[in-house]
Amino acid sequence: MRRTKRSIFLLFTFAAILSLLVAACGDDEDDTGGVGDAPVSTSTAAAEADATEPADDDDDDTDAVDAGDGDAEEGRAIWQAQCAACHTIDGGEAIGPTWQGLWMSEVALDDGSTVTADEAYITESIQDPNAQIVEGYSGVMPQLDLDDDEIADVIAFIQTLE
Ligand code: HEC
Repeated sequence: MRRTKRSIFLLFTFAAILSLLVAACGDDEDDTGGVGDAPVSTSTAAAEADATEPADDDDDDTDAVDAGDGDAEEGRAIWQAQCAACHTIDGGEAIGPTWQGLWMSEVALDDGSTVTADEAYITESIQDPNAQIVEGYSGVMPQLDLDDDEIADVIAFIQTLE
């Protein structure tokens, strides 16, 4: 008699544990559902990134890459080592134009045209210094062999010099 009662109690205990387990599994399935949702929000983010591009496609593409890649602190170190002799960052005059306020400013060139100091312009100014000469300056900037990462760093640094 006693034994039977006990095993019935045990049975109930088992049933309770089992239903808890089932409930736990149910939760797991919900979690999987959540993971399944993740790619949707990623593509939403991608769509948002795309949405910012149409303004001027190519530049914005490079923009996005460089903004992520460029390290302003590295850029400052490169400036100190290779550029500071000719470029100030505080508006001071030197052999080359100051970098203060350069980012996205309108730069007058010696051929009478103006250009916006964006990613593409700054990159070309570094890779091919004599392609576009800033009005009032001479083409004495040497061709310095910076790789893409270093240029991204320099641009990130220039972006901080508003
Ligand atoms: C020997 C002097 C000299 C050195 C060193 C030098 N530059 Fe220049 N840089 C110039 C001069 C002069 C100009 C303006 C004439 C021209 O556009 O080439 C200039 C122009 C520029 C411009 C365009 C600026 C503007 O206001 O439109 C950028 C960007 C630039 N340099 C980047 C660099 C970077 C980055 C370095 C270091 C890795 C560097 N320069 C080192 C002399 C120098």
